[in-house]
Amino acid sequence: MPSQPIHQLVYVSRSVLAHVRELVDIVEQSRERNAGCGVTGGLLYTGAYFVQLLEGGREEVEALMLSIERDHRHTAVTTLLRRDRPARDFARWTMAFNEYPGAEGTLALLVGQAAATVQLQQLEALLAIMYQRALLSD
Ligand SMILES: Cc1cc2nc3c(=O)[nH]c(=O)nc-3n(C[C@H](O)[C@H](O)[C@H](O)COP(=O)(O)O)c2cc1C
Repeated sequence: MPSQPIHQLVYVSRSVLAHVRELVDIVEQSRERNAGCGVTGGLLYTGAYFVQLLEGGREEVEALMLSIERDHRHTAVTTLLRRDRPARDFARWTMAFNEYPGAEGTLALLVGQAAATVQLQQLEALLAIMYQRALLSD
């Protein structure tokens, strides 16, 4: 049987976290749940915005995204990319989390932007940073 492609989804959102403790809760909860449904990925937090990459089975990723969209700890959740990949990019991490204030300007522009108008090159640059940060904090 041919293996299923890996479904990737990338979104940006604006944080409404009241306390840094909530961030720890999100990351701990995410790692545990993602491990349970075979989802891997990365999350960057600028202090005001999030960008997250989720990857795994299509159904698992889309079901998780429905929960994430409803989460009141962030708002203006904007999906920028959905694509299939032959393999995972973040296979090593149930959710690689890093703070990265340097992406604040870029994410401020991307929140609310229509997915069709987003430049893939800009998004790839962001994902490359996410990956590098994940490696550095390993
Ligand atoms: C920025 C952000 C990222 C999140 N990432 C994940 C994640 O990767 N995996 C996960 O299970 N929950 C994640 N959550 C938590 C979900 O939104 C949600 O609280 C959790 O899946 C429970 O959903 P449920 O109450 O619909 O079951 C994230 C929440 C936020 C605010």
